[in-house]
Parts: sequence; C-alpha cells; structure tokens
Amino acid sequence: MKKVWQECIECHSVYGADVVKYKCDCGGLLEVRIDLESLDSISWDDFRSRKFNVWRYFELLPFEDNERIVSLDEGGTPLYKCERLGKWLGAKDVYIKYEGANPTGSFKDRGMSVGITKALKIGVKGVACASTGNTAASLAAYSAKAGIPCIVLVPRQTVALGKLFQAILYGAKVVRLDGTFDEALSLVWKIVDEVGVYLLNSINPWRLEGQKTVAFEIVDQLGKVPRYVVLPVGNCGNISAVWKGFKEMKAIDLTESAPLMVGIQAEGASPFVDLVKEGHDTLRPIEAPNTIASAIRIGKPINWKKALFAVKESNGLVAKVSDAEIIEAQRMLASLEGIGVEPAAAASVAGTKKLIENGEIDASETIVCICTGNILKDPNPELIKGLEPLDVTPNMELIRNVFTSLLKQ
Ligand code: F0G
Repeated sequence: MKKVWQECIECHSVYGADVVKYKCDCGGLLEVRIDLESLDSISWDDFRSRKFNVWRYFELLPFEDNERIVSLDEGGTPLYKCERLGKWLGAKDVYIKYEGANPTGSFKDRGMSVGITKALKIGVKGVACASTGNTAASLAAYSAKAGIPCIVLVPRQTVALGKLFQAILYGAKVVRLDGTFDEALSLVWKIVDEVGVYLLNSINPWRLEGQKTVAFEIVDQLGKVPRYVVLPVGNCGNISAVWKGFKEMKAIDLTESAPLMVGIQAEGASPFVDLVKEGHDTLRPIEAPNTIASAIRIGKPINWKKALFAVKESNGLVAKVSDAEIIEAQRMLASLEGIGVEPAAAASVAGTKKLIENGEIDASETIVCICTGNILKDPNPELIKGLEPLDVTPNMELIRNVFTSLLKQ
C-alpha cells in the first residue's frame, strides 16, 4: 500500500492525507509526501508501456487507487528541439517543453487533474481560486468535467481576454475584482472555509503533485537530465513542483542527477528574483506589480519559501527580464520555431538569453525552457505593435503589387 501524508516544510508536522489544510499550524507551507522507499522497483519501462500523459507516472502520484480520476488527457506535451532559436540564443542544445499544448492551454491542467481528483475523493461541495487567468480557466474546465460548482476571482483590469472567455464558457461563476491578484488570493483564502469550498490555488499542495509530472516527462522524452530547466515564476508554485519532481526521480534512482532550476520574473513583478539576488531572509512584497506578462503579475508570491529551496538546493539561478525582452522572445519563438506562447511563457526564453549573454548559463550544456501557456490566451494588440497586417481593398492589381513587394522584403 502506498503511504501518503502532508508535511510542513518548516516544522515537519505531519497531517493525514484527507485533512483539508492550506498551511501548517505553525504557518509553514505544506507538502504532499509519498513513501518513496516503497517504490524502489519502478522503472522507465513500466511507465513507457502506458499512455503519455500525467497519469503515466501513477506510482509517483499521491493516490492509492486510480478510481474516479478526472482527466482531460493533460500532460504528454511536446518537447521541441529548437535549432533556429538555439542559434539566436547562442546555445547548442535548446529544447522547449510546450505546455501550451495542454487541454486548456497551460500547465495548470496537470495540477487541476490531480487537484480535482483529490477534491472528488474528499467530497467537496464546490471549488474556488483566485487567478491571473490560467488557473481560473483550468479549474473551470476540470470542475466542469467532474460536475462540481466552481467560482473564480480574477483581477478585472489585467486578466487576459482568452482566459476570461475560457472560464466563462467552461461554466465557472466568474467574479472580477477591482484589485490585484495578490488581493484576490488573500480574500478568497480568508473565506473558503466559511463558505465551504475547496481552494485550488497553488497553496494547495495536491495541485503541485500534478505539476511535478513535467519533470518526469522531460527526462522521459530527452532520455537524460538536462543541465538547466528554465521557467517563468509568478506565485512560485510551479518551480517548487518541478523541483520536487526531479528530486523524487533521483530519490528512487530513476535518474542520477538533477538540473539547475532557473526562475525568471518580469522586471515590474520580481519580488522572488530580488529576494534571491539580494539575499534577504524574507520576501519583500511589491504592492503594485506591473508587466505585460499578466499571468505573472504577482507581487506577493505565496510559495516563495518552497521556491527558495528549489533554487538553493539545485544550485540554481534567477533573472528578471523587461517587457521588451519578453515580447522579443515571444516573437522569436513564434517566427523561428512556430511555437506560440503567451508573454509569461516567453519569459523563460528571454531569461535564458540574458543569462547566456552574461555568462551565468553555460551555452554548451542542454537547456530546457518550459513555456507555460498558449499564444491564443492573450491576443493583446500591444504584442504585435509594428507587425500589424496591411489592409487592402478588393483590387487585383493592388494585391498583386503588395504580394510582389512583400516577397522581396
Ligand atoms: N506561466 C503562466 C502562463 C502562468 O499562468 C503562471 C501562473 C506562471 C507561469 C507562474 O507559475 O505561479 O506557479 O509561479 N499563473 C497563475 C494563475 C498565477 O492564476 O493562472 P507560478
């Protein structure tokens, strides 16, 4: 039998798997733990005989049985080798793990499949989250699939249009807040127990269990552990989840090494990068975060302590990038490789470029950038400034001339 429990990352207090708690009594973050020693004999061959999605790695997921799994076939996303992008970056062996290919277009689906499966097992009467957009879209879809009521709270001024449409159409009750994501999360968190709904933000450690599977997939696809794994950081959940995945693989001898975790934030919303760079012992929140990458417009990341472990334990790196650098990386990914990502997702590539240029990333090593969300999420006209289409009238001569001159450009 698989032993599963929840444990505080600070005081190591232990709680049962069915206790609904979002923090330890001491205030520390909780982590889901699986008795890894009981998994000694598992091998890549066992996994590879199964369908390529999150649930391929069932032994490493915190459930004893695979009854009532809520899945939209999430995970199993492409890992693209990118030679043209690599040349632009000045690096030899660059891969993009394209999380935009998930069912709702972001990595959140990995976590929501596991989170909603857990919600069903506990027997909740509804689910809720605060979100910059993707969490809301994903939670809405998975709760629709499970038939559970869903309420999401999003920042009215900044939520990307595609994400808002998704949440509404998947049937969530969408509430817009005149305020920031950080305020939204703090408000939702305070009322979930009273209202009787289950919180599925990344403070919920079960969700992160699903998100860790991207680490398994990277090794599964690449056939080795890359030297660097680079990803955008907002609320600090995903970098923690991915690192947990790499640590667990190593603990049960599925791998012999682990990568350096590299976290990228936008300049206007970089409290975690500042924390690491300046060596403070506690996070200094940013009250009015601002970046075109609305998904990571976060000033008070809730999982910063877990993320700090991830960067420190992996000997990792952090960097912040400007909006202009994010937009440039988004365009390069799209126009050199045909990989369409939203701005936050492009931050991983922008950060890689910066870290190669200043010599912090060794460009001769294997680099995997996780691109977390799909291009269709955020059709913001700002992103195509200077690339606007030519408008023409239905005149054959005019169109012939335009085509001919465009071909010469
Ligand atoms: N990339 C994208 C596309 C995201 O949507 C997010 C987070 C992140 C990166 C950062 O991940 O928060 O785990 O560090 N989006 C959340 C949301 C906050 O509400 O959709 P993180």
